[in-house]
Amino acid sequence: MSSIWHPVIDGKEAQQALEAAKRSESVEPDQIDIHSMMITQHFEKYSEDDHEVWRLLVAKRMEQLPEFASNTYLAGLKAINLKPDRIPDLRDVNKRLGELTGWSSQGVPGFIPAKSFFAFLAQRVFPATISIRPLKDLDYLPEPDIVHDVFGHVPLHADPVFGDFLQTYGKAAMHTNDPYHTERLARLFWFTVEFGLIHEDGKIKLYGSGLVSSEGEGHHALESKEVERRPFDMEQVCSTSFEIDHFQPILYVLEGFDQLRDSMNTYAEMLLNQPAGSAG
Ligand SMILES: [Fe+2]
Repeated sequence: MSSIWHPVIDGKEAQQALEAAKRSESVEPDQIDIHSMMITQHFEKYSEDDHEVWRLLVAKRMEQLPEFASNTYLAGLKAINLKPDRIPDLRDVNKRLGELTGWSSQGVPGFIPAKSFFAFLAQRVFPATISIRPLKDLDYLPEPDIVHDVFGHVPLHADPVFGDFLQTYGKAAMHTNDPYHTERLARLFWFTVEFGLIHEDGKIKLYGSGLVSSEGEGHHALESKEVERRPFDMEQVCSTSFEIDHFQPILYVLEGFDQLRDSMNTYAEMLLNQPAGSAG
């Protein structure tokens, strides 16, 4: 069953948003209307079981995160006031985020095509899944849910440096049509936004959503002897391929988020000064 069919989602609105998402694939990137793909989070329709799933998963992750998540992630978690015992209402999250960095998170139906996803980021909007995995499948996550998307991703959007990086990423990825660069940018996203590590206080810490939101991935990333933790280097990251269905054997460690923002600025400047379709 697809993640869009959940009581907090209006089926008719979701169907229209899905159709808009499909249509967006055939328009020029700068013509994409991100609003047509957004759906309402009918917050009052989360069940007590839904809140219980959030409560259990967040409690499990907070055994590791206070010591081993990036300070920037932890500060963001506090700044947007995510609660340990209730699924967040995006209206509350967005009020705080808007004041801090101008970012927001908006509900979307399951699948958003790549160019549209980038168009959201380019406008400082994070397209978020608003459904939550069922209580009986607590540890099994075939596709992102609100725990991955909001608990995992959104706290970093409260940080101005990370926020600027992510917007620049969106603009660059939206602009290029060169498969060579598209692949390199997908790798960059994977090894930072999803599975990034960072040096802080003399330790390696977690900031990627896939690590922050998953107990197995989070412990494996920091503790496994099988993982090669390489210093972040833009060229090397963009040249490293990844596989999605098992623990990552290679991860990259930032020295700070300004390193990520600055590397992205340089890359984006090069891409945005090229015609969209030109070869790399
Ligand atoms: Fe993600």
